[in-house]
Amino acid sequence: TPCYLNGEYTALKDAKISVLDRGFIFGDGIYEVVPAYAGKLFRFEQHMARLERSLAELRITNPLTRVEWRQVALKLIADYAHKTGAPAENGNQLIYIQISRGVAMRDHPMLPGLTPTVFVMANPLKLPSAQQREQGVACVTADDFRWEKAHIKSTSLLGAVFSRQISVDAGALETVMFRGDHLSEASSSNVWVIKDGRVSGPPKDHLVLEGIRYGLIEEMCRAAGIEFELRRISRAEVLAADELLLSSATKEVLPVTLLDGRPVGNGQPGPIYARLYAAYQQAKL
Ligand code: PDD
Repeated sequence: TPCYLNGEYTALKDAKISVLDRGFIFGDGIYEVVPAYAGKLFRFEQHMARLERSLAELRITNPLTRVEWRQVALKLIADYAHKTGAPAENGNQLIYIQISRGVAMRDHPMLPGLTPTVFVMANPLKLPSAQQREQGVACVTADDFRWEKAHIKSTSLLGAVFSRQISVDAGALETVMFRGDHLSEASSSNVWVIKDGRVSGPPKDHLVLEGIRYGLIEEMCRAAGIEFELRRISRAEVLAADELLLSSATKEVLPVTLLDGRPVGNGQPGPIYARLYAAYQQAKL
């Protein structure tokens, strides 16, 4: 697998960083996950805007311009396609971008003037299976014990690892989390509640990562005449939903049909899901 590290393209197995990298020592970095369909980056500008917001929170200067980020991503997509012998247009890929503050002797402050470590790789994008889409997936609920800066796409992901493991241990796909009585998100996905034909999501505040699909789902709803709103959503509303959806770069939109072992709505993927899934496939073309 080819990758990009600090200005060089190398094989993944040859890419090495310092043990003093603050990404390794403190999880002091940010990341992005960008899908590419048939060699074309999906919603790249939106991902870049979020990367810039995350960097600004960490007071790290963006090491590359948007044009340069795009060039790196497209080169990795093309190299990967070349390596596997399949044309880039045939496969879907996932671009992973990580920027850490850089290398320094261990010391907590946001040390200024370091050279950020920049890492990018391309991997095959594994989309949900037909069975997952047709039957829906199982999720469990848990308290959201992560920190209160969930809006930063940070590589400090221990909270997400713990959260995700709760669903792994329960044989489920995701963990739907609540801050007190209010829905926040899942360990690596946003969560959408559908009731009486209206799509509702939690507000874009510091308790959720604003997925790139936030904007996309809103656009698709508006275009399809489906009511859409962002507001605080109670646990009771989640449990009483007609439909529940997950969204992320890798899940696209995915129906949740079992929550804590109980059926969501009638236990089948619903009509709003079907419309949003179809609109999403159109948006990829
Ligand atoms: N996860 N919320 C959290 C906590 C996430 O980690 C993600 C993405 C999302 C959805 O964001 P988007 O629609 O931009 O993918 C919401 C990525 C895919 C990951 O960590 O692999």
